[in-house]
Amino acid sequence: MSIFWDFYATCYDAIALLIPYKELMERVCEELELKPGFKILDAGCGTGTLEVWLDKIEIPNISVEALDFSQAMLNRAEKKCRRLVNAKVNFSYFDLNKRMPFPDDYFDRVVSINVLYTLNDPESAVKELSRVLKNKGKGIFVNPYYKNFLAVFFTHIKEIWGKDKIFDFLLTGAIIPSLLIVCLINIVIVNRASRGKYHFLSTSELKEIIEATGIKIEKAFSCYSNTASFIKSVK
Ligand SMILES: C[S@@+](CC[C@H](N)C(=O)[O-])C[C@H]1O[C@@H](n2cnc3c(N)ncnc32)[C@H](O)[C@@H]1O
Repeated sequence: MSIFWDFYATCYDAIALLIPYKELMERVCEELELKPGFKILDAGCGTGTLEVWLDKIEIPNISVEALDFSQAMLNRAEKKCRRLVNAKVNFSYFDLNKRMPFPDDYFDRVVSINVLYTLNDPESAVKELSRVLKNKGKGIFVNPYYKNFLAVFFTHIKEIWGKDKIFDFLLTGAIIPSLLIVCLINIVIVNRASRGKYHFLSTSELKEIIEATGIKIEKAFSCYSNTASFIKSVK
């Protein structure tokens, strides 16, 4: 149901300003171990925040295929990424429940952050991501297991409280209305997860799904204020 995600797009960028999210982006960029000329797939790119971060690491000639099935998310992403200089990004409308229009062994890196849980069948989606990944290519998968988005918000507050971070403090004040909507949306997400419509997976469940495609796990740890698993894998 992309209407839900289209609505989420109106306030989603508030999340990108939270410290745990910034730390997650930083870690993803680091673990991607990018080299010039790499082709990257971002499955479920949302408003294009990862693409902005990828551009900042200044690796020449990297290209990103960024897919999402929410036109509102894609519109925001395109607007945000208009002035990127290092990363060449192609945003496309695509439903990740389907087979992707890329040949086998095509990308140097595949990444999917907080998206697998929303898909009909995360197992088939990982299989498909593994298909388009080159041999020795790396995959980064992040998926929630803990049903409390507030943990992310509280970590952010703890990080800026009483510290010399006046700018962050003022910014947080300004985004409170958007964050309230984000919290309400996350109540819906948690409710869907409780009904089995969305797939919050334990780290070992996610590892199992990834390993079943023949990809090896390099690292697995908890991230995003201990609400999600971060898995780095190699084909
Ligand atoms: C929680 S957001 C994560 C966005 C981005 N990866 C990030 O970390 O900021 C989930 C994204 O997955 C997208 N999505 C959900 N189901 C999808 C599907 N079946 N096909 C493509 N994109 C989907 C939504 O539109 C949304 O942009």
